[in-house]
Amino acid sequence: MADIGLVGLGVMGANLSLNMAEKGYTVAVYNRTTEKTDAFMKSAGPLAARLVPCRTLTELAEAVAPPRPVVIMVKAGDPVDEQAQVLSGHFGRGDILIDCGNANFRDTRRRVEEYKSRGIDFLGVGVSGGEEGARHGPSIMAGGSEAAWARVQKIFDAISAKFDGEPCCARVGPEGAGHFVKTIHNGIEYADMQMIAEIYGLMRDGMGLSAGRMAKIFRRWNEGPLKSYLIEITAKVLEAADPLSGRPMVEVIQDTAGQKGTGRWSVMEAQELGVPATVIEAAILARSLSAQKPARLAAEAMFGAAPRKLDPPLNQGDTALSVLENALLAGKIVAYAQGFEVLGKASETWGWHLPLATVAKIWRAGCIIRSVFLDDIARAVAASGATVNLMTIPPFAGLMKAANTSLRAIVAEAALKGIPVPALSAALAYFDYLRTGRSTADLTQAQRDFFGAHGFERTDAPGKEAHGPWALGLG
Ligand code: 6PG
Repeated sequence: MADIGLVGLGVMGANLSLNMAEKGYTVAVYNRTTEKTDAFMKSAGPLAARLVPCRTLTELAEAVAPPRPVVIMVKAGDPVDEQAQVLSGHFGRGDILIDCGNANFRDTRRRVEEYKSRGIDFLGVGVSGGEEGARHGPSIMAGGSEAAWARVQKIFDAISAKFDGEPCCARVGPEGAGHFVKTIHNGIEYADMQMIAEIYGLMRDGMGLSAGRMAKIFRRWNEGPLKSYLIEITAKVLEAADPLSGRPMVEVIQDTAGQKGTGRWSVMEAQELGVPATVIEAAILARSLSAQKPARLAAEAMFGAAPRKLDPPLNQGDTALSVLENALLAGKIVAYAQGFEVLGKASETWGWHLPLATVAKIWRAGCIIRSVFLDDIARAVAASGATVNLMTIPPFAGLMKAANTSLRAIVAEAALKGIPVPALSAALAYFDYLRTGRSTADLTQAQRDFFGAHGFERTDAPGKEAHGPWALGLG
């Protein structure tokens, strides 16, 4: 009998099934359109021996050994509810539905409760690494009951990416915790990608570098502290040529970015929790504005294009490049500090006890944001505790002290030359605000009290609500 079932043979579902089969598990597979199942079986090669094609859900339910775990790999949103609903007619008490899509954690929380009342366990499992990861080793962030996870953990450990032999797979908490962690992973992914794009913009428009030259720079950076999957693929993207025109591939790609929602959710959740995630927010802003191409062209015609050429010493040479590299590192530290703060606050708010060092550990391989940097974060969080701002603990505090001047130089020069760097600017603003012992919120509080009698705390009488003399006509 099959060890596990899987519904939805799109690329991710197909690759996860092949990955499980390769690790020695027998997988019963089902797709709504049977042609897809047939095509999948034909393409599976020798692994087909460990795949059981099912034409109906009755067949699927009969093929899997109890307690029957079934992976649902369909489009996030309503399709998950529809699929889970139909499946629950064939699967029952003690069985486990496992949503491996990019679900909104609020939906997962609801589904966990809904199925619990019917004796069915529901696990919300975030899977990162794209198609390649699903096939050969993704990073896996699970949420749900400990008992249900214990029954399937071996399979997920086996298919996950490994870092120094350790599986990049963990149950991070109950109910929606896994999907929440995956959402924040994606938010950080957006921030990382946007900051890399901004550095690319500075090199391309500010320094006039060719795609080939930039590819070499990113390749070199991939041997230093920025070493990561995203830097590696940036170099590969920049060196690729368009087979049709022979031009660098990036030059023939329309400059409008798509987004499916996880980045936006991470910012919305951060706002709900009262934690600033401004670097991620800036990345969303950039994607949204990129999509408004006609408006951008019209505004460029109206206001004129910015000069964009950087002045010496930031316009060329190794010194300029190392300033860019350090600026990107500083921006990255802020983005991850914000992301981990959101995780910490969510954990506290929802009572999840998220193991933040483990989260960093399972992001070290397999996922899109994998990097050496995450190994440092894992160690720093383990040593310093989960609740502190990453930016303020070693080694990041030291790195920030050294690198913030580069971030400042770049953001200032970009502002003067009209090169938009929203994510790097947001990172710098956050850093500067965080190290401002005396903020300007005294004035904000006074205004709130003036127009709405909202009250404030006096510096000489802490803990007591006070009001200003505005009602006396002094305003
Ligand atoms: C991953 C990716 C994956 C997907 C994103 C893309 O971790 O494997 O994050 O989940 O590529 O959802 O998101 P956008 O389409 O919103 O960029």
